[in-house]
Amino acid sequence: MMQRLEVCVLIAGAFLSLTAHAVQALQSSPDVSPVPANLAPHPAPEQPLPYSHQTHVRMGLACRLCHVNPAPGKEMSFPATSTCMNCHTSVITGRPAIQKLTQYARSKQPIPWVRVYRVLPGVTWTHGKHLQAAVQCETCHGAVGDLQSMSQTTAVTAMASCISCHQARGASTACAVCHAWPAT
Ligand code: HEC
Ligand code: HEC
Ligand code: HEC
Ligand code: HEC
Ligand code: HEC
Repeated sequence: MMQRLEVCVLIAGAFLSLTAHAVQALQSSPDVSPVPANLAPHPAPEQPLPYSHQTHVRMGLACRLCHVNPAPGKEMSFPATSTCMNCHTSVITGRPAIQKLTQYARSKQPIPWVRVYRVLPGVTWTHGKHLQAAVQCETCHGAVGDLQSMSQTTAVTAMASCISCHQARGASTACAVCHAWPAT
């Protein structure tokens, strides 16, 4: 078991050193306008596997190890199951949840994760421009590394949250930046 965990930590370490430079650059920019937390409770939806951000982020895994931003840049996307299997072909393979994960991997079907954050149709949204502007994941999604199960802890999908950050950072607040009427 110890040996498997060490392999795991090595893999994580390799990814971390790749991203360490980028992370440092982000940490030096002050977080001037975090999105407000949702006051009303937004319970976590039931997911096909009991995946925990707390467990994996505290292990030192970077967000971008699992969430990539494929062209044209709109989505952060859900992890490829092969990313999970880098560790879980050897780590805690006896646990029922990992056996279920292994079945998804063998089926070659994506894991049917239930979406948590979603803007209304017709709103122009992209992660790419925000990453280019060095807005951090946590600024919009909150303290993800504290979550046992993912829920909508921030109000980032509300128009007021978009606009108040755009005002604070000098980004455009013209209606047409975020809306195309009629909605496409
Ligand atoms: C080991 C892989 C892994 C790492 C590392 C990881 N995530 Fe995730 N993330 C997932 C998986 C799997 C899901 C889908 C299941 C869920 O919602 O918990 C997810 C879902 C999410 C969602 C919800 C998406 C939606 O709307 O449905 C957000 C937001 C998110 N992650 C942000 C982050 C941030 C921020 C970090 C870094 C602090 C991070 N993740 C690190 C695997 C990962
Ligand atoms: C860098 C290695 C690594 C990666 C990558 C990784 N995990 Fe894990 N995962 C672990 C370790 C180690 C544990 C055990 C933590 C503990 O119980 O102490 C764990 C625990 C889990 C558990 C809890 C199992 C249980 O019943 O206790 C689930 C579910 C899980 N991982 C799913 C995933 C999914 C889904 C992905 C891909 C999105 C993923 N893991 C990616 C190392 C990893
Ligand atoms: C400026 C705010 C903002 C930032 C910064 C941000 N997100 Fe998001 N995120 C959103 C919004 C809004 C949605 C809902 C998008 C939709 O409905 O299409 C979302 C959706 C997601 C999803 C669901 C799948 C998808 O691609 O739509 C994941 C996963 C996610 N974010 C992860 C991350 C990670 C990881 C980071 C950092 C690398 C990050 N986000 C940075 C606002 C943000
Ligand atoms: C935490 C701050 C923050 C939040 C929250 C935020 N944005 Fe942004 N947004 C920015 C910054 C900074 C830019 C980059 C402006 C630039 O490049 O001049 C940007 C750029 C954009 C662009 C590209 C504009 C262009 O000229 O190409 C769109 C579209 C956009 N945001 C939509 C949204 C929407 C929709 C939401 C809410 C769901 C949102 N943003 C939430 C900070 C934020
Ligand atoms: C920075 C991005 C942004 C800008 C700028 C913006 N909006 Fe929005 N707007 C949104 C988002 C995101 C939603 C969806 C909120 C949700 O999902 O609850 C929305 C929702 C709306 C809705 C409700 C749509 C519906 O179908 O219920 C109206 C109406 C609206 N906006 C009008 C405007 C007008 C008028 C302006 C210009 C004065 C404007 N918006 C500027 C992001 C923006």
